[in-house]
Amino acid sequence: MKEYLKHDAWNIIEEGFHASNNEISESVFSIGNGRMGHRANFEEYYSGSTFQGSYIAGLYYPDKTRVGWWKNGYPEYFAKVLNSTNWIGIDVKIDGETLDLALCEVNDFVRTLNMKEGYLDRSFEATLVSGKIVKIHARRFCSIVDDEIGAIRYSITALNFSGTISLTPYLDADIINKDTNYDEKFWIGIHSEAKRTKASVIAETKKTKFQLCSTMKFKIFKNEEELDFESQKIKKEKYVACSADFHVVDGDTLKIEKIVANLSSLNHPTEEILDNSYEVLKKACTKGFDQMLQEQSDAWAAKWKESDITIEGDVSAQQAIRFNIFQLYQTYTGEDERLNIGPKGFTGEKYGGSTYWDTEAYCLPFYMATANEKVGRNLLVYRYKHLQKAIENAAKLGFKDGAALYPMVTMNGEECHNEWEITFEEIHRNGAIAFAIYDYIRYTGDQDYLAEHGLEVLIAISRFWAQRVHFSEQRGMYVMHGVTGPNEYENNINNNWYTSTIAMWCLKYTIESLEFVQNNHPERFTAISEKTKFYEYTERNEWKKILDNMYLPEDKELGIFLQQDGYLDKEQKMVTEIDPSEVPVWQHWSWDRILRSCFIKQADVLQGIYLFEERFDEDTIRRNFDFYEPRTLHESSLSPCIHSILAAKLGKIDQAYKFYLRTARLDLDDYNNDTEDGCHITSMAGTWTSIVKGFGGMRVYDDILHFNPVIPKEWEAYSFKIRFRGAILKIKVDHAKVVVLNESNHDIQIKMHGKDQTILAKAELAV
Ligand code: BGC
Repeated sequence: MKEYLKHDAWNIIEEGFHASNNEISESVFSIGNGRMGHRANFEEYYSGSTFQGSYIAGLYYPDKTRVGWWKNGYPEYFAKVLNSTNWIGIDVKIDGETLDLALCEVNDFVRTLNMKEGYLDRSFEATLVSGKIVKIHARRFCSIVDDEIGAIRYSITALNFSGTISLTPYLDADIINKDTNYDEKFWIGIHSEAKRTKASVIAETKKTKFQLCSTMKFKIFKNEEELDFESQKIKKEKYVACSADFHVVDGDTLKIEKIVANLSSLNHPTEEILDNSYEVLKKACTKGFDQMLQEQSDAWAAKWKESDITIEGDVSAQQAIRFNIFQLYQTYTGEDERLNIGPKGFTGEKYGGSTYWDTEAYCLPFYMATANEKVGRNLLVYRYKHLQKAIENAAKLGFKDGAALYPMVTMNGEECHNEWEITFEEIHRNGAIAFAIYDYIRYTGDQDYLAEHGLEVLIAISRFWAQRVHFSEQRGMYVMHGVTGPNEYENNINNNWYTSTIAMWCLKYTIESLEFVQNNHPERFTAISEKTKFYEYTERNEWKKILDNMYLPEDKELGIFLQQDGYLDKEQKMVTEIDPSEVPVWQHWSWDRILRSCFIKQADVLQGIYLFEERFDEDTIRRNFDFYEPRTLHESSLSPCIHSILAAKLGKIDQAYKFYLRTARLDLDDYNNDTEDGCHITSMAGTWTSIVKGFGGMRVYDDILHFNPVIPKEWEAYSFKIRFRGAILKIKVDHAKVVVLNESNHDIQIKMHGKDQTILAKAELAV
């Protein structure tokens, strides 16, 4: 854990240059706009430790699978999010000496991520080896208004010398992914051109033939006066730059404004991409840096108005929740149904920037409550569009008759994960995708979605479950063998309670949904039956038979559900017994030792209890929580939030608060010692859920919102805002009362602490 960032309600601040933490800061201070994102690399050259990263949504490369021992069924490739053109670069030389923070004495360094207005700032004074001192201020943002535009303002002041400063803004497409399997560069150069103050580079990916066209234009000012100058044009394959020298005297400030358009062939035909990029750039340049920054700030203000959570009396918690919300909206805005939410967003490469079950299990509730209804729907439609691929994925593994296995990792619907225990066994992801349909309908009331798209997905997923279980003669029951639950620290286990539970829920929900569509949309029912070749009688009956005879492991004496058949045979130890120097265990223990231990990577049984909470009485929840929590390592970022929500439900507020901080400040404080790889974007939605469902106790039952708010003693008050079926509610909780403001134009019915309440339009309820 590293605590070097300053606490502040609206900003993430690094004071003093922490060179050894630079790659962590590069992740944390990343900027993005849902269409592209950039790690917080320096504009100027840096020879110290750095992980250069610039990413464009939806672009990927199918990197040929690399495994030691091929197993039939492995996907041919792993879809890698593409590390793309570095568009932020500006080389700076002072009388021929390169400005490189690794070689300078750096003073007054401050790096700030302004979350309120959506930009990254950096300032410092650098003493070069020559003794010359310069003062730098850099500001940049990825516009969420013009989402193909990035803008940088970089100023440099000569503090103790007169001489020549050379500025070389560039675009570098000669980039290699950090996680490439064969040290292969994925981009080839297609075109580069440089003019006096503008330049363009087009690169194309091998195999997938995606094109990215980056075009820049810049202006240079001396002491706020725009300069007219000649530049040297530098053009190499996959690289363009314009270099110019300027004479300065002591106290002079040179300022460069560089605006870049990044256009991808996902959105522009390749024959037009260059012209379009000049068009897009021209519009941005007409607005100029200041106007675009103002628009950025206004657009973020609008987002915050919808989604902000306030926490009074605890700056560290306040900063953390805003950081999580900010990063989520920097990653995914929900406007483009082809896009999804990679676990690292635009902040790194690990996990390929691809789509995981994280989206449905963690992110969906956040977007449903803070954004327009169509955003949640888009996330569902994304999977609907991948249904055929999911059927093909299942067929590759031997399943038939339209059974679908959604991928663990994907960019285009095809499975691209290639570790057998996850690819073949971590099948619970299918359950999360089905559950998301239910959750979306429960939250939005959009029942029509079932008939439109949902039912087809449910039928295909249920077919998979029906084929994946088998009848055990010995038990006289159906069982599910050879799975990996959410806890990836156990593989090839039999009867993982979570997987079997969600599978059975899925069969039941599909049967109910069939009935619903049959009764309410008979024509669609016929059309779907024909399309899917659904044998109503045989299939439905088979599913019912499985449902009635499914084995779910539990220990009656302990009163707990069992993570898997053999869990209690394992040597039972508590996490507190592990030497702290050996944590995280995945970095210290052999895989064999991890698999044999009872230690749990992330919520597993508790994940199921969280999803299906209404089925269990409080004692059952408590017994399971008290049993599994001390055995859980939380070595997945997806874990503490679930524990926080359940702890809050059980009235264990201190524990809930501890888990909240762990999930909320996971990246800010580098809890899991891996933030340098990128931020844990998808678990950030879990942080939001920890407040809204955890402390706020929000649930939807019987078509209405229920609240059971509690408040940690460390906080004076907190508030959150949610949309629900056309209503907008703001809930504020302090130690004396709960106030719910109905911002909508119609009355709304809620349950507060179990009691029915009506809140009139534009009125407040205080209890
Ligand atoms: C977790 C998975 C998760 C993945 C991506 C892994 O460490 O165990 O549940 O889907 O990270 O976030």
